[in-house]
Amino acid sequence: MEAQSRVFRLSSPSPAKNPKLPLLHTHNSSYIPSNIQSPKWVSLKTQFSPASLSSSPKKGSSTSCVKALETETLSTPRNDSNATIRKKNLAVFVSGGGSNFRSIHEAAAQGTVHGEVVVLVTNKPDCGGADYARDRGIPVIVFPKPKNSDEGFSPEDLVAALRTYNVDFILLAGYLKLIPPKLIRAYPRSILNIHPSLLPAFGGKGYYGMKVHKAVIASGARYSGPTIHYVDEEYDTGRILAQRVVPVLANDTAEDLAARVLHEEHKLYVEVAAALCEERILWRDDGVPLIQSKENPNQYT
Ligand code: GRF
Repeated sequence: MEAQSRVFRLSSPSPAKNPKLPLLHTHNSSYIPSNIQSPKWVSLKTQFSPASLSSSPKKGSSTSCVKALETETLSTPRNDSNATIRKKNLAVFVSGGGSNFRSIHEAAAQGTVHGEVVVLVTNKPDCGGADYARDRGIPVIVFPKPKNSDEGFSPEDLVAALRTYNVDFILLAGYLKLIPPKLIRAYPRSILNIHPSLLPAFGGKGYYGMKVHKAVIASGARYSGPTIHYVDEEYDTGRILAQRVVPVLANDTAEDLAARVLHEEHKLYVEVAAALCEERILWRDDGVPLIQSKENPNQYT
């Protein structure tokens, strides 16, 4: 694993002097204190998944040619103006229309997200998201193998293929299959999912699509909204990273509420993808991930 040292200006006393303060960790390792009272310079390390090129996608699969992967740099938007950040490679997983995938892809193409969607993974090779990817020359991997089909990757093939594409982060966007433990272990703290309710409410197995919104309305809850969370080996139980709130109105149908939530999903996923690619996600010592504000690096949400 490559370790990158970075210096952040934080408003905080040192942990040695204040052992009771909660700590903030970067992607995988070091810490910074999260109290924000007196400014202090703190050295951080950020780790990224290795970009191994040890294997290739299967021949004859629906994966098209491997794109030439470019490494670009960006002046960090935060506080260390001399630092540069490598452009990240994203894999998006979809099972349906892929409107979140489209908004992320467009934001990356426009430069709002400092990354590139280098591969799309789907269990439904004919879904709208897969069509959109193919139309734009984005390779499509089928995982897992659909019933009555010979085409599709095993978990081992999938991990190897993602490595081949130098994938840094995996974004699940309406992907309805459970992520295999092999993939979760291969990409620690690097897989995100979006869910259309305020987790931990209305999540878990069976809560997907309109079922979520029908359950919210039936419960009488007055607020709902999307949650972006890290992915673990269960449905919808990983650490929460970001949420948005929308009202549930008295006459809402499930479709009305779904549309209101989806509108926020598109904005929220782009904001989170931008933070991810700019390395603005930090980990509190209790394991809660936080997003560092781009405008004010001393603020975390
Ligand atoms: C979204 O509502 C998302 O929250 C859920 O699945 C839906 C996907 O929609 N996980 P789309 O395919 O991105 O349009």
